[in-house]
Amino acid sequence: MTLADVLRRRRMTRRFAGEVSVPWIVEQCDLARRAPSAGYAQGTHFLVLSGECLARFWDVSGAGTWFSERQPGVLGAAAVVLVLADRSVYETRYSEADKAGHGLETADGWAVPYWLTDAAMAAQNLLLLVEEARFGALFFGLFVEPRRTLRAFGVPEHVDCVGAVAIGRRAVDDVASGSGARRGRRPLDEVAHLGTW
Ligand SMILES: Cc1cc2nc3c(=O)[nH]c(=O)nc-3n(C[C@H](O)[C@H](O)[C@H](O)COP(=O)(O)O)c2cc1C
Repeated sequence: MTLADVLRRRRMTRRFAGEVSVPWIVEQCDLARRAPSAGYAQGTHFLVLSGECLARFWDVSGAGTWFSERQPGVLGAAAVVLVLADRSVYETRYSEADKAGHGLETADGWAVPYWLTDAAMAAQNLLLLVEEARFGALFFGLFVEPRRTLRAFGVPEHVDCVGAVAIGRRAVDDVASGSGARRGRRPLDEVAHLGTW
């Protein structure tokens, strides 16, 4: 498959059936972190949760209850990867000689928080790699009180979560679902602006 094929095929999976090995997932995280990184700060982390840790995640985050009531097939995922962004690494990096003086030495000065940008790019890489392998993935946000979930897994306070990626084998009866299946893709000329908005 070409990258264009992978992009066309990619969609969220909400019905998983069958395991995907954790070492394979970690390998994909290694590839996913080849995303661009502002100042090459590399503040993106991956917290891979499987087995008992995954059961605890479903419980602590509230996502287990939410999905069991709406899309129970999501709970068949082999693992959930929390994609995390360490803002402190960016403050340190942008205080270095080649970057200092732009007011980016503290997180408050950033119009666009690049640690979230970098982590989101890595998350998309992960989704594409899973698609390329013809497995399935679902990106979802942490629900109520994300910090409570992060604390439960020892994530430091200066590290934010851009989202969770559930990974598993796409069940044969998985179909396009969620908002993506209900809403059409916006026409290109509504979103691609040539020269002016
Ligand atoms: C930031 C973000 C948060 C999302 N949160 C959820 C979620 O909580 N639950 C869910 O089922 N899908 C979630 N999605 C998936 C979107 O609904 C999905 O990407 C969109 O409907 C387009 O469908 P597709 O990705 O299958 O093409 C999220 C996607 C993004 C980018």
